[in-house]
Amino acid sequence: MRKKIKSIPVVLVVIMLAFILGACNSNSDSDVSGNSEGAANDEESAGNETTSESGLSVGIVLPTKDEPRWVQDEERFKEALSDSDYTTEILFSQGSSAKEKENVETLISKGIEVLIIAPHDGPAAGVSVEAAKAEGITVIAYDRLITETDAVDYYVTFDSLAVGAAQGQYLVDNAGEGTNVPLYLYAGASSDNNAFLFFEGAWSVLQPKIADGTFVIANSSEAEALQDKAELTRDEMGKILGQVTTNWDPNEAKNKAQTHLTAVGPEMKGDIAVLAPNDGTARSIADVFSTDPEVSSYIITGQDAEKASIQYVIDGKQSMTVFKDVRTLVTDAMGMAVDVLDGNTPETTGNYDNGSIDVKAKQTDVIVVDEANVQSELIDSGYYEASEFTGL
Ligand code: BGC
Repeated sequence: MRKKIKSIPVVLVVIMLAFILGACNSNSDSDVSGNSEGAANDEESAGNETTSESGLSVGIVLPTKDEPRWVQDEERFKEALSDSDYTTEILFSQGSSAKEKENVETLISKGIEVLIIAPHDGPAAGVSVEAAKAEGITVIAYDRLITETDAVDYYVTFDSLAVGAAQGQYLVDNAGEGTNVPLYLYAGASSDNNAFLFFEGAWSVLQPKIADGTFVIANSSEAEALQDKAELTRDEMGKILGQVTTNWDPNEAKNKAQTHLTAVGPEMKGDIAVLAPNDGTARSIADVFSTDPEVSSYIITGQDAEKASIQYVIDGKQSMTVFKDVRTLVTDAMGMAVDVLDGNTPETTGNYDNGSIDVKAKQTDVIVVDEANVQSELIDSGYYEASEFTGL
């Protein structure tokens, strides 16, 4: 990977909120479940005293245990809930909308009052949350918006447009002074609303630099056809995503990267730039590009600050990641849940149009991390232990 890191482009500073649960609870037995074997359904909820009739106050549904990102969310929920009076259970959907529906039904049958859910598939999750809503359950979309339904009460999220913009800006800032730098675009799954927001944010920064000849698109005829448009419609983005989606799957990302490198001529190699949507896909794409003898250097983006990618950043194999402090999201989601359980109205900071209604939202900022600030942002801040990495 080319070392072209200039400054630390801090996008916005994450404001860590005090853990609400720690502040408002005294004794605890709250439990979240976890099945470290990655089973399709984790279930280990524990009961305690201050709960709904069946003993369960809050149900949490996360998309998959196969990505460290969501395992991290589970861990952070457990940390946050260790001092809670409310009982909680976490179930994983393992990338299946059917499993997700079953999970929600299970939690409904256990009498939850609040459902916190990061959907596997934004529109498909509508049916499940409508069933929850019909039972009077408050629905909080977590990280990913549930679209095309009026059955979502709240949304806690990172600033996903800023994530994409930070990725695009990193490529612009580190591409050097040359022109016609080959640009490889990759995106997340079309079933995830965030994939569009990330791409939209990145496009807003990259498009002017494609138009002025700094970058030349290497791997998407749809993006090339739209390269003069500063703002894309969702349908237009959908066309590009149709070509360059990773489906959030590192294997799919790897296969696509291999196919793309095989298809291009030498003018699309040399010193290149890669928009990779998240850390899991970035690592597998980086592994492909780094082994092509005609690729002399590459800059590649990511997001999530996954441990494996932090090691890649330290080793100079991944250029950057966008750190999304999951503790804040967990705090916000559980803070909202506790407000609802206590009969208070949760605080929100804005709205997100989900195609059906404006969902009241609370949004958190993100931080760009690269070799220059990995120590201060992730180690000195206590997010990770130095001993978890080598070569720091
Ligand atoms: C999340 C990312 C994650 C991706 C794949 C997105 O919705 O915001 O943090 O990497 O899904 O799971």
